[in-house]
Amino acid sequence: GNYQAIVLAAGQGKRMGVGHNKQLITLGDRPLIAHTLQVFEDDPWCSAIYLVVHLDEQVVMQDIVNEHGFSKVVKFVSGGLERQHSVKHAVDSLTDEMITFVHDGARPFVSQEELHKLYEATVLHGAAFLATRVTDTIKQVEGHEVKTLDRSKLYQAQTPQAFTYKWLTEAHDYAAENKEVATDDVALLELISKNAAVVEGSYHNFKLTTREDIQKAENMLKINRQGNYK
Ligand code: CTP
Ligand code: MG
Repeated sequence: GNYQAIVLAAGQGKRMGVGHNKQLITLGDRPLIAHTLQVFEDDPWCSAIYLVVHLDEQVVMQDIVNEHGFSKVVKFVSGGLERQHSVKHAVDSLTDEMITFVHDGARPFVSQEELHKLYEATVLHGAAFLATRVTDTIKQVEGHEVKTLDRSKLYQAQTPQAFTYKWLTEAHDYAAENKEVATDDVALLELISKNAAVVEGSYHNFKLTTREDIQKAENMLKINRQGNYK
């Protein structure tokens, strides 16, 4: 294998409002998190998966891993209060100093081709992330002041985000020491003055966030099954 993957599943899914962790909602024939794990299980370039879960959900997650035979899940890591803390716990538990992907469990539609493009960019640049160009015009609003941002420079960051072991650990250690918090890992890299390369991905790799995304995901599954995509 060429890389190891940290898969995050320790959130609460508050914005989805289904009363429990969104990783466990059923999509098609299995829980959301099983779809995401399957992509890494199937990728020959992936050697190990570190699955970050909430302590209360460790048993149900373990059952899912067993039921689907996800042999690459080598460790369950307990999640933290914020996403960043969950990643930090996983980073601290890594036993191999290889290129590491950090991925949201709530993005089941990343493709193997995207994973490979991301890996190759990371070998070249030290870090890389999947992103799509912004389609709407974005406004920055502060009080009564509205500023229109230059759309040609704007990207929506997705996951996976990938790093050499050295940069990933340096960025997270720096953030922890200086109490810096961010919503993704590339933002932490900026703190240590390192750059990540942009790998243009696809809109299919969306994160299930709100209730509307469930139907969108069911439709994506149908399209995949019909072989119209991938
Ligand atoms: N996550 C995590 N640990 C946290 C918070 C989030 O592992 N403390 C994970 C989520 O499970 C998800 C990913 O990080 O796969 C992206 O986070 P987000 O989409 O915000 O998920 P939630 O935090 O679960 O949702 P919400 O913010 O609506 O509560
Ligand atoms: Mg969240």
